[in-house]
Amino acid sequence: MHGEPKKVELNKPKTTRLNEVQLEKMIDSIDEAIIGCDKEGYINIYNSANERCEKMNRKNVLNKHVDKVYDFHGKKSLLMQAISENRPILDQYQEYTTESSGTYVEIICSTVPIKEGNEIIGAVSVMKDYSKVKKLSKIIMDLQSNLYSASQEKTAKPGITSAKHSFSDIIGENPLLRDTMAWARKTAENSLPILISGETGTGKELLAQGIHSAGSRREKPFIAINCAAIPENLLEGLLFGTVKGAFTGAIDRPGLFEQATEGTLVLDEINSMSIPLQSKLLRVIQEEAVRRVGDIKERKINTRLISISNREPLQAIRQGQLREDLYYRIAYISLSMPPLRKRLDDLPLLLNYLIDKYNKKLNLEVKSVTPELFSLLEMYSWPGNIRELEHVLAAGMSSLGSRDKNISLDHLPPNIRHKFSAGSLQKRNRRNNFSLESTLDRVERRVVETVLKRNNWNVSKAARELGLKRQSLQYRIRKYSLNIT
Ligand SMILES: Nc1ncnc2c1ncn2[C@@H]1O[C@H](COP(=O)(O)OP(=O)(O)OP(=O)(O)O)[C@@H](O)[C@H]1O
Ligand SMILES: [Mg+2]
Repeated sequence: MHGEPKKVELNKPKTTRLNEVQLEKMIDSIDEAIIGCDKEGYINIYNSANERCEKMNRKNVLNKHVDKVYDFHGKKSLLMQAISENRPILDQYQEYTTESSGTYVEIICSTVPIKEGNEIIGAVSVMKDYSKVKKLSKIIMDLQSNLYSASQEKTAKPGITSAKHSFSDIIGENPLLRDTMAWARKTAENSLPILISGETGTGKELLAQGIHSAGSRREKPFIAINCAAIPENLLEGLLFGTVKGAFTGAIDRPGLFEQATEGTLVLDEINSMSIPLQSKLLRVIQEEAVRRVGDIKERKINTRLISISNREPLQAIRQGQLREDLYYRIAYISLSMPPLRKRLDDLPLLLNYLIDKYNKKLNLEVKSVTPELFSLLEMYSWPGNIRELEHVLAAGMSSLGSRDKNISLDHLPPNIRHKFSAGSLQKRNRRNNFSLESTLDRVERRVVETVLKRNNWNVSKAARELGLKRQSLQYRIRKYSLNIT
């Protein structure tokens, strides 16, 4: 593996090597712009993607010196740098203007010196257009700054918090929900990191807002960011901040940890953050300090962190989506929002609340849902949880006449009504296995199998122990496809 590079075998048949034409075709078919030069800096490779990017014809570029073709704004060409320093320069930002077409180009570039034996014979750069990434990053940073200044304006007025919701907006009396809420209330006053998990639409973000609004940080910033929505290479700068010139023309900018200091930072979908970035986050939490990207200085922060995961955390750890050591740091308190199917006793309260909300919005006077629709809502499994319930009600209410007082199945548009047809409900119940019948079946299957095993699959003996007739037991063996194991 290591040691002297292999010598080129001179007597190798020519056909095993790509000839110049084949190489040129291959390089031309690649989407990335490619440029190469000899050790003096004279350009000898220039592909069509580069022609498109720099708006130049290769005829006018080939055999010319890089410094004659480009103006690198006082900096050294990365090709020449890789040659003089005899090392690859990877993922480097570079800006330049082409001398002939005057095109201003920003790229992310990986450059490697090309060697024959030990001797450098030139260098090649593979470039990615940076302008698209930059546009996106600017939009995100600007949006974030706007959000932050808006929230600062609001918090300047006493009593108004930057988080819109409070605990009173979380409707429900179900014991599972009450338990979560009780813990949330207890933790609102301290600053320990919290992890909220739960399925989609169960109210995780609502709970995070509630915690912020209930604690002493309520007058301070509340910033929530969805880690899954931000490109990986931007997230680090966005969270920890950047200093001028750190990379890709970065400017001095505090990250969200600093912006939310004394307040709350919510990292939504934390399980989609890359593992290397999770390690950096771990350090920030441990040190209670951030180092902006490209900076040497550490800045103390006092930001409460609320992380949100749409996966059960231990499952996310098992699946390699969440570092175990980070989990213990972000989940001093771990709160779980129960799915709606486990708190269907809250359905009447939620219906009242949501109908009231949409009565105001749509200027209606709806009272409730018909008993028939209510029993269908109770049978449904609600994979989208409260958000889905809200969607169903809003759709039904928007088609009500001004004199209608109760939402019925007929008021629901066909795509939604379909969810509550007898066939779909049965299928769902079977799939979700939560109907009473299927639960009893599961229990019965387990008991029958255990007793059969205990009696070495002797049907008569097992039937006697179970207090069943032999035929009844045989019927159950067939029903549950039980086999001797
Ligand atoms: N207990 C509740 N009472 C009233 N409204 C609720 C409740 N739970 C959730 N909602 C409403 O349901 C919608 C979804 O809530 P939220 O955005 O907090 O869910 P989430 O768990 O963060 O979902 P996702 O994982 O998809 O982001 C919101 O409109 C929210 O106001
Ligand atoms: Mg959410």
